[in-house]
Amino acid sequence: MSVTVVEHPLVQHKLGLLRDVETTTEMFRRLVNELTLLLTYEATKDMSLEEIDVRTPLETTRARRIPGKKVAVCPILRAGMGMLDGVLSLIPVARVGFLGLYRNEETLEPVEYFVKLPADIAERDVLLLDPMLATGNSTAAAVATLKRAGAQQITLIALIAAPEGVDHITRDHPDIRIVVASVDSHLNEKGYIVPGLGDAGDRLYGTK
Ligand code: URA
Repeated sequence: MSVTVVEHPLVQHKLGLLRDVETTTEMFRRLVNELTLLLTYEATKDMSLEEIDVRTPLETTRARRIPGKKVAVCPILRAGMGMLDGVLSLIPVARVGFLGLYRNEETLEPVEYFVKLPADIAERDVLLLDPMLATGNSTAAAVATLKRAGAQQITLIALIAAPEGVDHITRDHPDIRIVVASVDSHLNEKGYIVPGLGDAGDRLYGTK
């Protein structure tokens, strides 16, 4: 498994704003969108290219393009939805799958309540979206669901990870890639990432 922490100044600047308890819901949403776009840039950096001829107004030249690459982007509901537009603004032809999982606040175990994936997911590179990789329980369950559906190539894009979550995914799914803006200090007794940013879903949607 590979874990990439994106240290780009734009990513780290926006992450600091995102963490700030004073950041409004509107601003938080915009920052999640922008951060996801920047992380997607990193997550797709190994996509293969093919050479083609392109006619400019002056002459024909060689250019490169991504050869009909098929991508599925799969947000984990509900906080992952805040990341969807960021990916689609760069890969508008991607198909979208949904994974409905919530965390039982007592056991911290994931409960799956909705799954709708592209039928041809086995032929697609999957970008799994979950802003907070905390215990890793829901991410590991989501990856298992994607694999059962045939997905072979999975990259998790998260904003913040806890070391515990990274260890969990490394153990259960050593074949997946993780792209993240930060690996934070630890999880607290309630399963929140510290220092983190609080509850990503609540901050995205203004709920409590
Ligand atoms: N989910 C969140 O939204 N925040 C955390 O810190 C952990 C899990």
